[in-house]
Amino acid sequence: MAKEKILELLNHALELEHAAFVQYLSHAEVVDGINAEPIIERLKEIADDENKHQEKFRTLIGLLGGVPSMGMAETHPAKSLDEILRVNLKDEKIAVDTYRKILEELSKDRGRGYYDFLLEHEVRHILMEEQEHITELELLLGIQGSSY
Ligand SMILES: [Fe+2]
Ligand SMILES: [Fe+2]
Repeated sequence: MAKEKILELLNHALELEHAAFVQYLSHAEVVDGINAEPIIERLKEIADDENKHQEKFRTLIGLLGGVPSMGMAETHPAKSLDEILRVNLKDEKIAVDTYRKILEELSKDRGRGYYDFLLEHEVRHILMEEQEHITELELLLGIQGSSY
């Protein structure tokens, strides 16, 4: 696959991570109520994961000779805890679908160089962490295991 196409996909991923990071931190300030503390902590911990994902994608883009985007995908405000969990669950599923597509694209034209393996490994690792976020959000929502 052309390097430009990979860079475009990685920059889109980076913009999703920018949005996720800001969104979790904003939502952490909105959560209110009797059980708020542990949920606020958890939202901040997930934000920390998204921050690390941003750094990973930025590094990968730089290694490929690209310019990391400073843009941000759409963010989604929410008012209640239930809405916060649902909105983020939806966005995590979009991230998983997006990263699956990137892996699919990478597998179509896989080189044998170090960067090809690194790229695939890193995207797969981030994808697994988004799947963990989905599981956590579902647990907080009281939903039993999805296929994500
Ligand atoms: Fe992420
Ligand atoms: Fe996530």
